Amino acid sequence: MSRKIGILTGGGDCPGLNAVIRGVVKSAILRHGWQVLGIHDGFDGLLSPERCTPLTLESVRGILPRGGTILGTTNRGNPFAYPIEQHGTIVQTDISDQVIANTRTLGLDALIAVGGEGSLKIALQLAEKGLPVVGVPKTIDNDLEETDVTFGYNTALETATDALDKLHTTAESHHRVMILEVMGRYAGWIALESGIAGGADVILIPEIPFDLAKVCTAIQERKQRGGNFSIIVAAEGAFPVGGDRVVAEGPSSRYTIERLGGIGQFVAKQIEQCLDMDVRVTVLGHLQRGGSPTTFDRALGSRFGVRAVELVAEGRFGQMVALQGRKIVAVPISEATRELKQVDPDGEIVREAESLGIMLGR
Ligand code: F6P
Repeated sequence: MSRKIGILTGGGDCPGLNAVIRGVVKSAILRHGWQVLGIHDGFDGLLSPERCTPLTLESVRGILPRGGTILGTTNRGNPFAYPIEQHGTIVQTDISDQVIANTRTLGLDALIAVGGEGSLKIALQLAEKGLPVVGVPKTIDNDLEETDVTFGYNTALETATDALDKLHTTAESHHRVMILEVMGRYAGWIALESGIAGGADVILIPEIPFDLAKVCTAIQERKQRGGNFSIIVAAEGAFPVGGDRVVAEGPSSRYTIERLGGIGQFVAKQIEQCLDMDVRVTVLGHLQRGGSPTTFDRALGSRFGVRAVELVAEGRFGQMVALQGRKIVAVPISEATRELKQVDPDGEIVREAESLGIMLGR
């Protein structure tokens, strides 16, 4: 049966998005003979149906190694709380009916939504209103439940680990404390795993509020053992015991949640007061979201794309593709988005890090 499916990418961009798009387009066309429509800039694209473009084998040629998304994306634009100006004030308005009506105008039989927790929650709400939706889990933060890993995470880890390798040389040569601030608003996966891989001495994550006095003591003790430099990795969402996350920009009409940033400088200032060592801070920022996806992310993204099309063919809507072990499975989007997958402070990986002599701020 001939079908027309739409695909959109929502939330922050992430290496491997193009691999998913290519996987969807290739399998939909080559295996099923379906048409694919590209929806631009996340769910916003469904507000301007005239901007949607057909995706062909030609449109996806050569995109596999490219970072970003050929469809564009946004981490704003929730159709259930869309900012619309009314009499000079911005009112969050539910325009989801219009979004669903536009999918009918476009003749879509199904929608594949590629996104993180925020975008998948929107996809779920649309599915609950009757839109046939299949989800694909994306985020460098790796904070989605029900999947062992999200695509993009592996590439971000490579970038962060590479940065740590490079910071080691200056740390060692100048006998300094080097702090690397990485992404991770609520989940410290990037900090934790890159810190282990990059030989960090201290790792600060949102799941374990840190004690600055203990961080200073750990660095002092390392110095006494002959380690005259130290490397700290801090997730942007890490915060001290009894303190708060460091906010770079508060919520506004443009951004509904605050933008984090500055934990590196915060920690640097405090430890400069208790240690007689030079401290420098590097903020890795969006370098973690950029660049060519790793082999792992290309393969995972491609497999996710193919399997999302299979779920559409099987009529399994409201489901999300997920990696469990070495298998791609389908899980309800509702379960994957119920709560964020955070690092367990008493879990295996934290214990292993501590056995390596890494200080986790406690
Ligand atoms: O993709 C999620 C994330 O990486 C978070 O860790 C971070 O807080 C956020 O993106 C930053 O997004 P942006 O600066 O693009 O709004």
